[in-house]
Amino acid sequence: MCGIVGYVGSNQSVEVLLGGLRRLEYRGYDSAGIAVIDPDGELHTRKRAGKLQVLVDDLEALTLANGSTGIGHTRWATHGGPNDQNAHPHLGDNGKLALIHNGIIENFAELKAELVAEHPDTVFTSETDTEVAALLVGLEYQKTGDLSKALLNVVARLHGAFTLLVLHKDQPGVVVGARRNSPLVIGLGDGENFLGSDVAAFVEHTHRAMEIGQDQVVTIRSDSVTVTDFFGEPVDAREFEIEWDASAAEKGGWSSFMAKEISEEPAAIANTLIGRIVDGAVKLPELDVLGPDILRDINRVVVVGCGTAAYSAMLGKYAIEKWAKVPVDVELSHEFRYRDPVIDRNTLVVSISQSGETMDTLMAVKYASEHGARTLSICNTQGSTIPRESDAVLYTHAGPEVAVASTKAFVAQVAAIYLFGLHLASIRGTLEPGEIADLLGELSALPAQLDVVLEEQDAIKQLAGWMTDTRSVIFLGRHAGYPIALEGALKLKEVAYIHSEGFAAGELKHGPIALIEPGQPVFVIVPSPRAKDSLHKKVVSNIQEIRARGARILAIAEQGDAAVLPFADVVIPIPLASTLFEPILAVAPLHIFAMELAAAKGLDVDQPRNLAKSVTVE
Ligand code: F6R
Repeated sequence: MCGIVGYVGSNQSVEVLLGGLRRLEYRGYDSAGIAVIDPDGELHTRKRAGKLQVLVDDLEALTLANGSTGIGHTRWATHGGPNDQNAHPHLGDNGKLALIHNGIIENFAELKAELVAEHPDTVFTSETDTEVAALLVGLEYQKTGDLSKALLNVVARLHGAFTLLVLHKDQPGVVVGARRNSPLVIGLGDGENFLGSDVAAFVEHTHRAMEIGQDQVVTIRSDSVTVTDFFGEPVDAREFEIEWDASAAEKGGWSSFMAKEISEEPAAIANTLIGRIVDGAVKLPELDVLGPDILRDINRVVVVGCGTAAYSAMLGKYAIEKWAKVPVDVELSHEFRYRDPVIDRNTLVVSISQSGETMDTLMAVKYASEHGARTLSICNTQGSTIPRESDAVLYTHAGPEVAVASTKAFVAQVAAIYLFGLHLASIRGTLEPGEIADLLGELSALPAQLDVVLEEQDAIKQLAGWMTDTRSVIFLGRHAGYPIALEGALKLKEVAYIHSEGFAAGELKHGPIALIEPGQPVFVIVPSPRAKDSLHKKVVSNIQEIRARGARILAIAEQGDAAVLPFADVVIPIPLASTLFEPILAVAPLHIFAMELAAAKGLDVDQPRNLAKSVTVE
């Protein structure tokens, strides 16, 4: 959950590190710190509780000696509260070594006890697991005089998830990193090299990057990069080109990243479809590694994800079952592996993750592989861990998502899993080519329809402005509208801190209707009047039931849906689309509502309290 950056080169590292941390701040923002080695070989550190700006202000008030080797960290607290002492870097070898860490060292208490038993005079300045690692690497360095070896000797003793970066004043021009179950990528520059939790850390300096595998150690100097496994044996690392530009991760005049990213929802879908629809058919060469036989023979799909990604998984279930006639289960990643799920060679486990680093989902994928299932990752982040642990990957091309709340990644995930559903239907022959072409036509029309939705959001903005004192909001949906109700409720909790619940509209009478009292705002995602199985009529009945009990109805309904008008206090119209496509149009108003309401309450919509973008701990 923390953001990590490392640099060796000829630039002033303080500026490089702060630039990297600014782009990684979405990963954690309760404290930040840096360590640099100056040209005289002295080590300087500075760390402060609070957002990165607190550290930046502090460095402006009292300059830190600069140099061309450094490490930086932005923290999301796990062990020890967010204060100056617990902020990273932590020191070892009598203050000559600095270390930063992302993850959790599960056996730190045992290691600390052993350390104290061997060195009773050890002074701890923090409550963190990280400081124990820093002290241990310091002791190993005293024995070996080699930073890589020192780190190798320590990682062999660590349990849990970690990315560690370390530098030592006696080795200026060197940063060493190690990773297990936690992200780290290398940036390859000209006369300079970088390390980062993700490519955002260094994309303003270079577009060349290199993956670091599980249980590997990397040593960077200004002119070299070496990668070994945890036994010190050299390994090959795959190089890749970063596809997006540094400006893609800038706010560019928008009031927040969330506002910018909602505006990019149409492009996120369009870019995810580009090159994948040819002559009315789906082309997904990246799935060739799975082989057509495998996709034909699978008898079950399990889609795993967390939070918003799990809601796109639910839409994927509706689509895949309808189109490809394969049974699909959707599971929260963290529930999946702890309940002994029945999976085998004929199960395809599809994971959905924007970051590609969510630990719960990563562990679900590993579990699936270990138990013989095939794995496919739908992911937005190149070079991340989940795609590397999967048999195949279908990248969404939403571009970097910086706001903690996921918006454009969600619609891109839905577009990707729908493409996959149609691909599967084509391989299994469950839809005619003409039907597939029609559905692809509907999918391709979504970006333009979504543009229209985004242009007409004054009503929802006004509504948000009126509702700043609201303490509870209910969201109702049915069929494909149900995941959207869940998504609307999650976004409102997450960024506006308002208690909200999403329900399947049919479930109301089984309990939740008791929550309705006069004035209770209820968003209803109304299916199209053209939807099959009289879903529309049933939802309109639900609206009448709760309106009779005093609910304020905020309906998201198809343009021209006259049946809703008499019962709704506010109607947000969306363009005509069929049942499975309508939700993608209905979600944008809910994203805007949550964002506007949070902004009207004066909250930081990009960095909500207690959260971090990338949840790399279980
Ligand atoms: C909600 C949100 C989270 C993420 C979840 C999964 O707005 O952002 O619920 O969707 O933490 O993250 P990824 O997709 O990175 O695995």
